[in-house]
Amino acid sequence: MAFFTPPGPCDTIRPMKNLAGALLALTLLAGASAQDKKDRGKTPELTKKYAAFMKSNGAEMKGILEDIEKDKPESDIKKRLARIKENIAKARELKYRKDEEEQEKLDGLFDVFEFKLKQDFDGVEWGDKEKRKFLHERLQAKCDVCHELLRD
Ligand code: HEC
Repeated sequence: MAFFTPPGPCDTIRPMKNLAGALLALTLLAGASAQDKKDRGKTPELTKKYAAFMKSNGAEMKGILEDIEKDKPESDIKKRLARIKENIAKARELKYRKDEEEQEKLDGLFDVFEFKLKQDFDGVEWGDKEKRKFLHERLQAKCDVCHELLRD
């Protein structure tokens, strides 16, 4: 059966809607983290360290959105992206999960994230406002892949 599949948000650029969605996602993210007291790390300290890198990622993602709104130079956004890359590398090094199987999954998802980041963002121009919003959303989607599997 051939249904017509409407283009997803990655194909169509609907700036206002996308931005509202991104802001909502950030709000939900912030709310969820406050309640996240799951004891999944080898030690509470390790989990705390891991969460701190992730929190910084959240702040940088929000910062990118603000930079886009304020038409900041592309170099500002790239700096934030570089920070995210650093945070991801450091977070993965911690190998914080106590469950071995979960840790293996986490490693695999970090591989995917780092590969995708390289593939989609290395040497890519952030361009005009519309393209910037599109890229921000695309980046957030990559964060969410891992969160859906290993955070919630
Ligand atoms: C490979 C997996 C993975 C990737 C990629 C990832 N995260 Fe996370 N993130 C996690 C896990 C797991 C947690 C939950 C940590 C815990 O409490 O056990 C988390 C937690 C968080 C938190 C909550 C931190 C807190 O306060 O407890 C934020 C915010 C966050 N991530 C943002 C991001 C952003 C933004 C990106 C993308 C730039 C990202 N993450 C990419 C796995 C990932």
